[in-house]
Amino acid sequence: MKKINIAIDGFSSCGKSSTAKIVAKNLGYSYIDTGAMYRAITLYFIEHYINFNDPKAIKDALAKIELRFIPNAQNNQSEIFLNGLNVEKEIRKMYIAEQVSEVAAIVEVRRNMVAQQQRMGKRKGVVMDGRDIGTMVFPDAELKIFMTADVRIRAERRQKELLEKNEMIELHKVIENLQHRDHIDTNRSEGPLRKAQNALELDTSYITFDEQVDIIMGMALSNIYLD
Ligand code: DC
Repeated sequence: MKKINIAIDGFSSCGKSSTAKIVAKNLGYSYIDTGAMYRAITLYFIEHYINFNDPKAIKDALAKIELRFIPNAQNNQSEIFLNGLNVEKEIRKMYIAEQVSEVAAIVEVRRNMVAQQQRMGKRKGVVMDGRDIGTMVFPDAELKIFMTADVRIRAERRQKELLEKNEMIELHKVIENLQHRDHIDTNRSEGPLRKAQNALELDTSYITFDEQVDIIMGMALSNIYLD
């Protein structure tokens, strides 16, 4: 059976990761959360007091970082390890969200991440979500989705997720953080968030999660079996 790569890009908190996870599981593909990679780099930079404006310090730090995705046997979900340490929970916290866009705009960081991501998708059978997957990482991906949703709806979803992790953040603060990240992600010079020309735009504001998954599964299966 033909194997494809699926690129899912879009704004923060549109439901990209949760959708991509299920689609990958249904197809027996690997799921790669590229946002987790930028978050783990941010965590390392914060912990090691790396100055975001010092290219030499950044280059040296990147050489010391090893990122790996390892499946958790209990929930079958892949979790990110930073130099051998499981940081999956830590990187979801608000203090990381507040700085990750700045780190993700650093050219050296992006080039390093994109090269790693391209290696992961070389043999196909990957569902990858992020901001530049359809444009920079896999410009030849067989299926590209660009997800959008109303910012208030995204913020409400994000607030609920944070609350489930015992972080209570006011809605206006979550909205501000999303808008700030959207702005930086869209306006940076290297790998800005853009809809790839041949991507399908999916507005998830008023559709259910199951509908979202069904739409992408339908497209993936028709690509695998019919094209
Ligand atoms: O998807 P996320 O919210 O976990 O992503 C965290 C940040 O990383 C987000 O602000 C943008 C950045 N990012 C990126 O620049 N490129 C990617 N491929 C994935 C994420």
